[in-house]
Amino acid sequence: MTDRKATLTFDNKTLELPIHSPTVGPDVIDIRKLYAQGDVFTHDPGFTSTSACESTITFIDGDKGELLHRGYPIDQLASKSHYLEVCYLLLYGELPTAAEMEKFENTITRHTMLHEQMTYFYRGFRRDAHPMAIIVGVMGAMSAFYHDSTDISDPRQREIATHRLIAKMPTIVAWAFKYSIGQPFVYPRNDLDYAANFLNMCFSVPAEDYEVSPVLARAMDRIFTLHADHEQNASTSTVRLASSSGANPFACIAAGAACLWGPAHGGANQACLEMLRKIGTVDKIPEYIARAKDKDDPFRLMGFGHRVYKNFDPRAKVMKESADEVLDLLGIHDNPTLQVAKELERQALEDPYFAEKKLFPNVDFYSGIILEAMGFPTSMFTPIFALSRTVGWISQWKEQLSDPAHKIGRPRQLYTGHPFRDYVEVEDRG
Ligand code: CMC
Repeated sequence: MTDRKATLTFDNKTLELPIHSPTVGPDVIDIRKLYAQGDVFTHDPGFTSTSACESTITFIDGDKGELLHRGYPIDQLASKSHYLEVCYLLLYGELPTAAEMEKFENTITRHTMLHEQMTYFYRGFRRDAHPMAIIVGVMGAMSAFYHDSTDISDPRQREIATHRLIAKMPTIVAWAFKYSIGQPFVYPRNDLDYAANFLNMCFSVPAEDYEVSPVLARAMDRIFTLHADHEQNASTSTVRLASSSGANPFACIAAGAACLWGPAHGGANQACLEMLRKIGTVDKIPEYIARAKDKDDPFRLMGFGHRVYKNFDPRAKVMKESADEVLDLLGIHDNPTLQVAKELERQALEDPYFAEKKLFPNVDFYSGIILEAMGFPTSMFTPIFALSRTVGWISQWKEQLSDPAHKIGRPRQLYTGHPFRDYVEVEDRG
């Protein structure tokens, strides 16, 4: 915080607005008193220039292509850390000691089972439901099954809800998958690590032994890590807005997951792979690039562009390397989708349209190729994003609740409808 002030002059008024300086990033003009002192609102649909909260969790420098969790860059975390350690970092602010890590891992491992009655809840869904539809429902229903962790005023209950959500998400997501393919639910195994347990719940069947490949488990863990948090994106802001009314944690996280599902956000990984498959062969790429540039065509290159990154998405870089590694490991050479993706990236980056608008591949561009190679159908891509992002949502939710300045979110509007008018009886309407 500084003593600097911004001066806003309009009509006959002059207002002094405090300027706050963050540790990194642009300064912020505090407009909280604007309406009271100036009788005006600000207008910023899509929040392109508006900070809605103070946060110490994640920072993105869009020009540099930098993503920091509690100060640590994502490429270092992706190569040196692992998902549960990143979860700890996001939740508690510091990297854990060995003892803290062991305790945290133990706690998460011991909360992975779902209330048995939840199996009936799954069975209420149609088999052909999108797994995200099931997941949003099951996450919301957790508040009906775990009453003892819904009181947000109790720090112990907040902690239990946090552990439950991180621990149970792999089970919730894997069971949505199993349900959709008509296979029996596979229960979590405490002897496996977080990512290996998830793969086991997705791909093992009672009829035969299944051994999780450690390399695939590592790749899965890296996908989780790369998606763990991303500061005030649409789904996180949804969680914060839902929580601002005092709603319980399961309801808030379910709201975030519902928002994530949209194709402009977490749904982009599914849309991207479907697009790459539709393009099919490299000779079709120019046609699709032309469509993406055409103002009269709603088509966009999925997995391209980002509200904040204007240079490159550091997550995409790691994801591209992972795609090569995983396909290599699985002995998949000359994968046509990967070939189309790489050539599409090359041609788009050379095209002035994409350069001028600063459009680069984002995290979703290569993730689908890896997930498909692992055996996941496209409908599971967004659920895996939701699983990974749950820790980000909860970290931000926890931070908001402990912020003494937090209050119910209530945006204003620029009203352009009718002013006051009297009701007209039906017989008098022309
Ligand atoms: N293909 C073609 N043109 C694009 C694209 C694209 N993927 N993205 C943006 N543009 C153009 C857009 O038409 C606009 O042009 P103009 O200025 O002439 O009107 C300009 O670039 C700015 O676009 P915008 O929609 O105003 O930018 P935004 O910050 O509101 O949207 C975005 C960001 C990610 C929603 C958008 O780039 C997009 O729709 N991308 C495709 C979907 C996608 O990959 N989403 C995943 C985002 S990363 C993972 C996540 O956070 O969930």
